[in-house]
Amino acid sequence: MADKISVLIPEEDVEKRVRELAEQISRDYEGEEVLLICILKGSVFYTCELAKRLTVPVKLDFMSVSSYGNDTVSSGRVKIIKDLDDSIEGKNVIVVEDIIDSGRTLAHLLAVLNVRAPKSIKLCTLLDKPDRREVEVNVDYVGFTIPDAFVVGYGLDYRQMYRNLPYVGVLELGKE
Ligand code: IMP
Ligand code: MG
Repeated sequence: MADKISVLIPEEDVEKRVRELAEQISRDYEGEEVLLICILKGSVFYTCELAKRLTVPVKLDFMSVSSYGNDTVSSGRVKIIKDLDDSIEGKNVIVVEDIIDSGRTLAHLLAVLNVRAPKSIKLCTLLDKPDRREVEVNVDYVGFTIPDAFVVGYGLDYRQMYRNLPYVGVLELGKE
């Protein structure tokens, strides 16, 4: 049986919310430059859409961490697979994530990045699943708060699939 995906957040709603967040971030950082740190691969789509709509000067850098392997349940381990290209010292950093689930990935990342002495550091996530939180993280910009379900699309994957869906959908696995 094939996997079933039901739309949770339609494309138009995601786009509208990204525009709103971009306006808010542009206001908050008026007169400043921001460095968006895109957490690969899930937040690629989100980071691009957000970056295009910011009216303050923007730089981009990329980081890849792994916490899940190929499963739908967090292993609790966080490993840096690809580090940033440049220093973040003295920069206004915004970490852009696709989703915050247990919070372990971001809690670990923040600890790593804070040591590098940025001028400021904020978190921006497309999706937040607060019911699943195991570690407290302070999120500054949230696109949507969603219930405890496994979602795909708009960058989010299941075993590297479905990232390219233009909406966010709930995945129901088919039988193998
Ligand atoms: P955390 O460390 O548990 O907060 O996990 C965050 C990471 O797990 C995200 O960056 C995603 O890559 C992945 N993840 C968590 N929930 C989902 C989901 O519902 N769909 C797809 N990936 C998810
Ligand atoms: Mg992922």
